[in-house]
Amino acid sequence: MRILVTGSSGQIGTNLALRLQQEGHEVFGVDKRQNTWTDDFRYLLQDLAGHYSAFPNGINGVEYPDVDLVVHLAAHAKVHQLVRHPQRALENAVMTFNVLEYVRQKQVPIVFSSSREVYGDVHRFDEYGEGLADFAFTESTYSASKIAGEAFVYSYARCYGLRYLVFRFSNVYGRYDNDLNRMVRVIPLFIHSMLRDEPITIYGGEDKTLDFTYVDDCIDGIVDGIGALAEGRVVNQTINLAYGQGNTLVRCADLIASELDAKPQVSIAPSLLGEVTHYVADLSKARTLLGYAPKVPLDDGIARSVAWFLEHRAAHPEEDVPVTADHEGTLGGGETMWKSVATT
Ligand SMILES: NC(=O)c1ccc[n+]([C@@H]2O[C@H](COP(=O)([O-])OP(=O)(O)OC[C@H]3O[C@@H](n4cnc5c(N)ncnc54)[C@H](O)[C@@H]3O)[C@@H](O)[C@H]2O)c1
Repeated sequence: MRILVTGSSGQIGTNLALRLQQEGHEVFGVDKRQNTWTDDFRYLLQDLAGHYSAFPNGINGVEYPDVDLVVHLAAHAKVHQLVRHPQRALENAVMTFNVLEYVRQKQVPIVFSSSREVYGDVHRFDEYGEGLADFAFTESTYSASKIAGEAFVYSYARCYGLRYLVFRFSNVYGRYDNDLNRMVRVIPLFIHSMLRDEPITIYGGEDKTLDFTYVDDCIDGIVDGIGALAEGRVVNQTINLAYGQGNTLVRCADLIASELDAKPQVSIAPSLLGEVTHYVADLSKARTLLGYAPKVPLDDGIARSVAWFLEHRAAHPEEDVPVTADHEGTLGGGETMWKSVATT
């Protein structure tokens, strides 16, 4: 197939584009930034968040190569950045609108990347089945942007016959997630900080529990979804993709410390504004519809992530510099400002 991947310079986009290409598909990426990890697939530099009007052969009149399916990953993907800069949430919605207008005119199906953030933090100890999202409790402007994106997708399916799959991802980690000065993510930040003998902070308390997904499991799910959508086997479904197991951030930090043989100084701090504090995905739908069977539990995934990080760092010693926190001003409950890590 000929597949357009938006957000192709990001973590999931880079992994997905390389995998699709390996499997013999023709990949065409679009991103507003250069890819800092690889030149191994073709992509176009374009800002997808403008207010453009006509999309016959490509967004904003740019000629794209012909495509059979679009995977829309481009977004501002960081909860705290969107709490501080809510206009970026609107940009997410505009990007989704632009991509939907393009696929409407091309009449090709789309895979949309949503998030477990659409569930909010209100069903803490329920299993998160896909029907449980309750938009009266939108936690953050990031959640709002994903809910808006999903709503646009569903409306295009009803009004214009769009064929889609919506995937709700959860804490994807591993290969190509270490561009910390662009976007702080908890696992590479813990690795980076422990290597530098710097303290780490866990926001959300000792029992903060998340469903961490090793990137290859996530990519397996997307690739199976692309095949099923293209063949018409699974169409117009919203599906959780995660590992299906909760792990505390404390355990995550312990696993990294033992991989690195480090003894980090750990502080526990209150949640950041807009953060989910407990999430474990219900994967029954992914298993039934796609035969999804994630293979990499957290301990194995952490070992692989640390190995990849160390290899990358050895080739890029210039990245061994302090990381700037990206969530100043987004603490909940009037708490003191803490200086280190965000968790999603
Ligand atoms: N990684 C996760 O844990 C996770 C979890 C839930 C949902 N998601 C969603 O999955 C998608 C991919 O996530 P990721 O982790 O690869 O994020 P990422 O930030 O690494 O990649 C997103 C890419 O979108 C690009 N982008 C942003 N604004 C753009 C614009 N105006 N025009 C063109 N490109 C633009 C960025 O440059 C970036 O390369 C995102 O939509 C994200 O919200 C990710």
